[in-house]
Amino acid sequence: MLTIVKHPLIQHKLTLLRKKQTGTKDFRENLDEIAGLMAYEITRDVPVREVQIETPLTTCSTHELAKDIVLVPVLRAGLGMVDGITNLIPTAKVGHVGMYRNHDTLEPMNYYAKFPGNIKDAVVLILDPMLATGGSASATINTLKHEGASIIKLVCIVGAPEGVERIKNDHPEVDIYLAALDDCLNEVGYIMPGLGDAGDRLFGTK
Ligand code: PRP
Ligand code: URA
Repeated sequence: MLTIVKHPLIQHKLTLLRKKQTGTKDFRENLDEIAGLMAYEITRDVPVREVQIETPLTTCSTHELAKDIVLVPVLRAGLGMVDGITNLIPTAKVGHVGMYRNHDTLEPMNYYAKFPGNIKDAVVLILDPMLATGGSASATINTLKHEGASIIKLVCIVGAPEGVERIKNDHPEVDIYLAALDDCLNEVGYIMPGLGDAGDRLFGTK
């Protein structure tokens, strides 16, 4: 399932991300804020369980999250989405996947993976601002499945139709969340109109 989270605040902040004049500080802040805003929609179906508690006045039956949440940012650019979500879900544990695209083949190269122990039972949110060919996301999902994760959601900011199709084909059970579905990829695999190289803009490396 593909969900485009189209809140006016998200659209406004995404416009700022897309603008070429936006510098590292504003790019970083807006990316985090969009991730936080998207978290409401992404966690809408997380199960809750009934608990009995005491308020200052009486006892009552109420609800708490019944599943752990694990965030898995894809290095580098996914790191820019972590704080926005942990602000809302401070108990979330964080795994990491290191992945970069080979510039010539666009194939993902995995260079790092480390996950918390509760990944098998948790709701796992993969974080990466860009879903281009879908190669990096598909490889990340393969890695997570190999680790035993079964509830996996892919959270990106901007996606290309090619990437969405790739995930639907490779991992039809994984829900995809985007702030925008763009037009296409250009000849060197960048999303059009997109926002450029997310990692470089986030960390100021270009
Ligand atoms: C970017 C982006 C994704 C990937 C998307 O990372 O953050 O991980 O490209 O492209 P794909 O869908 O075609 O696989 P990049 O390879 O630039 O690595 P970096 O963040 O370390 O610069
Ligand atoms: N990675 C990026 O950072 N941007 C794109 O447009 C495609 C892949």
